[in-house]
Formats: sequence, C-alpha cells, structure tokens
Amino acid sequence: MSDIDPILEIYDRQAPTYDIMNSLMERLFSKGRTIFSLLRGKILEVGVGTGENLKYYHPSANITVFDWSPQMIRQTKMKVKRLELHNIKNFVIGDIQKLNNYFEPNSFDFITSTCVFCSVPDPLKGLQEIAKVLKSSGKFVQIEHGISNSKLLNIFMRAFDPITANMRGFHLTRNTLNNLERAGFSVIHEWSLDPAGIIRVIISKPK
Ligand SMILES: C[S@@+](CC[C@H](N)C(=O)[O-])C[C@H]1O[C@@H](n2cnc3c(N)ncnc32)[C@H](O)[C@@H]1O
Repeated sequence: MSDIDPILEIYDRQAPTYDIMNSLMERLFSKGRTIFSLLRGKILEVGVGTGENLKYYHPSANITVFDWSPQMIRQTKMKVKRLELHNIKNFVIGDIQKLNNYFEPNSFDFITSTCVFCSVPDPLKGLQEIAKVLKSSGKFVQIEHGISNSKLLNIFMRAFDPITANMRGFHLTRNTLNNLERAGFSVIHEWSLDPAGIIRVIISKPK
C-alpha cells in the first residue's frame, strides 16, 4: 500500500491539465491575484500548484515556491521558464503541515496561498506551521474559497463536499477566517470576490 497522501496523488494526477480544468474559475480568481504585485521582500508561496500567481509578483521580490506535488512543481518550473520570471529563486517540494522542517523560524516577510487551505488535510496544523516560518512582523496573504454567507448555499455545499474532496482533493465548506483565529492569527483585512462571500482575499498577521 502507498504511504503517499491520497490528496497529493489527486493533485499529481491533475497537474498536466489543471490550468485547462480551472480556466472558468480563473476569471474570478484572477481579480484577486493582482494583490501579489504589492508585496516586496522575501516571499514564500505555499501550495503554488502550476504557478498561476507567479506572473503577478514584483520583479524585485525574492520568491520561494512550495508544494508537495512533484508534478505541480514541474508545471511551475515550465511556466517560470516560459515567462522568464527571474524573481522565482527556489522550488521546494514538501508538506505545509511540516513547513518548519524546511525553513528556519522567522524567515519570510510574506507568505502567500491561493486555494490551498481547502485541501490541506489538517488546516489548523498547516496554519500553525505558517506562523512559525513567517517573521513576527510578516503578513500572510491568501485567496481562499470556503463557507459562504448564505445558509441555503451552505446546505448545498455541505452536500457536495465529500464529492469534491474525494474526486478533486478540496473541501467546499472550510471556514478559513475561523481557522486563522484558532491558529493564532489576527485578520487585518478581508473582502470577498463574489456576492455570496465564497472566495475571500484575506490578509492576516501572527498575534
Ligand atoms: C487547488 S490547488 C491551487 C494551486 C494554486 N495555488 C492556484 O491558485 O492555482 C492546491 C495546491 O495545494 C497543494 N497542497 C495541498 N495540500 C498541501 C500540503 N499539505 N502541502 C503542500 N502542498 C499542498 C496541492 O498540491 C495543489 O498544488
């Protein structure tokens, strides 16, 4: 029996076709991704996937990308080469839930993630690891989808959650704002990219 996490296997399989499968959703997500152009300094992007955010970062930023899927990192490397992105300095394969094993404490000015904490098996553990390697003055900038403002919509999303989790590797009803508070972050700004409050841009800092 394989001891590779089944969610990692799902993302490894999806990697070559991920951008095509997500092209519709990308119209919505791309409205938020521009926020990354404002960041400077040492940046860690976790769950980089195929690297959809990378073209938005400022050329002077010093960026390390991280994902547990070797196939996703392969797609990212191809995109970095194609787009000639010289600010992407390091590619690291590993598990967000063990981030502290890969980086020194207080290493980064910013940590970023988009559409990642819907997939991390233990999101609280992952967020606690983010807090360890982020500088105490640092910010965590996320775009995440999750539970909505609508009780009716949440009923449907809860019903579909096991299907997306098993087939695509992500949950529909994670409460990222709540998880951030529980993991020791203070939310500084947050806003929604859609009227139902499903997709949120969230900026937080360690308490
Ligand atoms: C839904 S994709 C999003 C990819 C990219 N951030 C984007 O916006 O298109 C989620 C990514 O998070 C990665 N991921 C999920 N759980 C992870 C973990 N525990 N450690 C490292 N990467 C993880 C997956 O391999 C996948 O590449």
